[in-house]
Amino acid sequence: MNEVPNPFVFGEIIDDDNFVNRKDELGRLVRDLADGQKVFLLSPRRFGKSSLVSVAMLKLKKRHIHTVSLTVSSYSSYTQFLEKFVEKVLRAAGPWDRVKHWVAKFGRAVKPEINYDMVTGEVSVSLSRGSTFDPAPVAPEVFALPGDLTRNGGFRMAICLDEFQQVSQFNGGSVENALRNQVQEQREVGYVFAGSQPSLMQEMLSSRRPFHKAGPQMFLDKIDAGDWKEFICRQFRKRGRTLEGGGMEALLKAADLIPYDVQRIAHELWDYAELRNKRQLDASDVQAVIDTLVTGQSTYYETLWDQLSARQRATLQAFAFRGVANIYSQENREQYRLGPASSVQKALQSLDSRDVLDRYRGNYFFLDPLFPYWIRKRGA
Ligand SMILES: Nc1ncnc2c1ncn2[C@@H]1O[C@H](COP(=O)(O)OP(=O)(O)OP(=O)(O)O)[C@@H](O)[C@H]1O
Ligand SMILES: [Mg+2]
Repeated sequence: MNEVPNPFVFGEIIDDDNFVNRKDELGRLVRDLADGQKVFLLSPRRFGKSSLVSVAMLKLKKRHIHTVSLTVSSYSSYTQFLEKFVEKVLRAAGPWDRVKHWVAKFGRAVKPEINYDMVTGEVSVSLSRGSTFDPAPVAPEVFALPGDLTRNGGFRMAICLDEFQQVSQFNGGSVENALRNQVQEQREVGYVFAGSQPSLMQEMLSSRRPFHKAGPQMFLDKIDAGDWKEFICRQFRKRGRTLEGGGMEALLKAADLIPYDVQRIAHELWDYAELRNKRQLDASDVQAVIDTLVTGQSTYYETLWDQLSARQRATLQAFAFRGVANIYSQENREQYRLGPASSVQKALQSLDSRDVLDRYRGNYFFLDPLFPYWIRKRGA
């Protein structure tokens, strides 16, 4: 048999072809952005926000809407974020001829250094040459840019600011204010603010914060088991393989239906089957793959475990062995020496802020669904 590329992709943004479900969310996001809405997209890590946005952006492009994507967490300072914002917006706005008038106007107000490479069409922007530069006064001009360009150019734009909760690192309040004031003026520009820490994002959307009621909120759910089954079976079938005997259920359960982990385990199972040229896969094969993954991560889990307090560990053990539903029960608290319910609550909160746990629909869950496997394996 010839090698066939592994169809299960994780840790990368998923393209249109391998995109599972999310039809309603995609339709809504595309519609809202095309309408110039300011959308807040929230979910725990690795649920598929960036992938959803990227597919939405492709669809918008096909409708001749100019698109811009920035990941806020990739910039080390507010100044750098503003520079990249200008660069990407100028690039998306189109040919240099279209933007150069604006650049001249912007240049007078902000005095940036803007270089345009005639050959590649690349624009680079520098707002400051000194480390004492304060970007706050020029931020309103920068954030006004998409509005000015679209209004004068007769086109629409959609902008994604991913990992948006990270703006709080750039002297938070003033960024939020400057951005909010400008975006609300921009009827031709849709924005999606995507954030992977729902609690931080929710704080940002609370009353008395600039983004309160600035636009619709979308909470991204997990993807239904049925859709995953169909997708995974179809991929294996192409290779003449089947996954039966509870194998599919075992896979989805181990991944806790977290999109990243479903793909990761399926990816590993694919390689496992290729290596052995095994046509019929079942729960024992899935278990073997999970064991390999857990073993591969054990140094990392070990280090993490060492950093936790005794109470945090006990809480995680109770969670891993007994589930979260009865974590506060007296029996659990006695068996695992968790102390009073208030201590359990504190431990859960601290594990949440350490990104070991997160919340979904009001319940805590392991951000890494294989971590509880490791905990069970090492024993109580
Ligand atoms: N609709 C989808 N169909 C198939 N796989 C998906 C889908 N959405 C997400 N995934 C899987 O989950 C992984 C993580 O997705 P993505 O990076 O989009 O999530 P995210 O919510 O932006 O994560 P983070 O919070 O870490 O930025 C992808 O690499 C892919 O493996
Ligand atoms: Mg992301």
